Amino acid sequence: MLPVNAEDFRTIWLCPDDDSVVQIIDQRLLPHDYHIQDLKRWQDGVEAISDMYVRGAPLIGATAAWSLYLASLDVSDPAAEIRTAADALLQSRPTAVNLGWAIERVLTVIEAASSSEDLPALIRREAGDICNEDIEISRGIGEHGLRLIEEIAAGKNGGAVNILTHCNAGSLATINWGTATAPIYFAHRKGIAVHVWVDETRPRNQGSQLTAWELAANGVPHTLIVDNAGGHLMQHEMVDLVITGTDRTTRCGDVANKIGTYLKALAADDNDIPFYVALPSTTIDWKSRDGLTEIPIEERDNAEVTDIYGVSNGERIHVRTTAPNTPVSNYAFDVTPARLITGLITERGICDASEDGLLELFPEMRTE
Ligand code: MRU
Repeated sequence: MLPVNAEDFRTIWLCPDDDSVVQIIDQRLLPHDYHIQDLKRWQDGVEAISDMYVRGAPLIGATAAWSLYLASLDVSDPAAEIRTAADALLQSRPTAVNLGWAIERVLTVIEAASSSEDLPALIRREAGDICNEDIEISRGIGEHGLRLIEEIAAGKNGGAVNILTHCNAGSLATINWGTATAPIYFAHRKGIAVHVWVDETRPRNQGSQLTAWELAANGVPHTLIVDNAGGHLMQHEMVDLVITGTDRTTRCGDVANKIGTYLKALAADDNDIPFYVALPSTTIDWKSRDGLTEIPIEERDNAEVTDIYGVSNGERIHVRTTAPNTPVSNYAFDVTPARLITGLITERGICDASEDGLLELFPEMRTE
């Protein structure tokens, strides 16, 4: 296993020996195997996103941008191929807004290009910029979120700050550092005692398989819990702070994130525990206001619920845990209304989960 090194770690990159190949970590195999997967055609990028080799809103966007770079290579009409690829990529996962954002950004570059011969180099630069900017965004979230952890730590007499997180909004969900994890990594590096309660995050187990793995790789103390344990821990004062990520946040501050986030927010509210959402500005859907009616919620394959994956005697296996014909529903995300959110941690600072709060930090998005 390669260590997740917070300085030079990346989740997607151009193959050093062949610039017609993009490389990713196949996150479906973690924590058991660290397998680097080649993406050679844009169709590989679509598969990587929809089958969740890569996941997490910022990384989904970056993968789409790199897939459009692949679409521009070795074809007679790159602009047409890129548009076909863009349409397919847009369908690959509906909830994370970064996907459409990154595709739009690349398409804007294409429209401005004077010759189709320039497209590979232009898209390569844009995809690289998207990744570099994402690292800086995560760093900004880390710096601002650190202040919250420091404030809580000041009242704990050296005791660990207990932070609960859901899903994986870590380095693996971004290019590096993560969103929800960035403040935690910054605090840990600064010598502040932190301990993370890691929600397992059924059905795909992003918590047990990804967050726990990367926290361990970074030496951050953590404990894995089942998804339903959070409320109990909060009632017994074992959680000081909740930080989650988000896949799409409306301009009024409603947050779509991995299914189960809403229940954590309800429990946090009932127990007066601060509930923050780490929010890269690339994840704000400025066109939507009401999360409950305007955010598309992805429904995924029933097998994610009926079956479970793991390793037995060194072999990756999956087993069905249900009767063969059990009816299943598998909503992948839910919406936490802004009223349950203490604040949004963005790369520009922390604000209220409201239109006014967001516009104070992003005044360029005012419409009137
Ligand atoms: O289905 P996933 O694994 O793509 O869902 C990811 C999440 O819900 C994360 O919490 C969210 O994308 C934030 S990632 C910075």
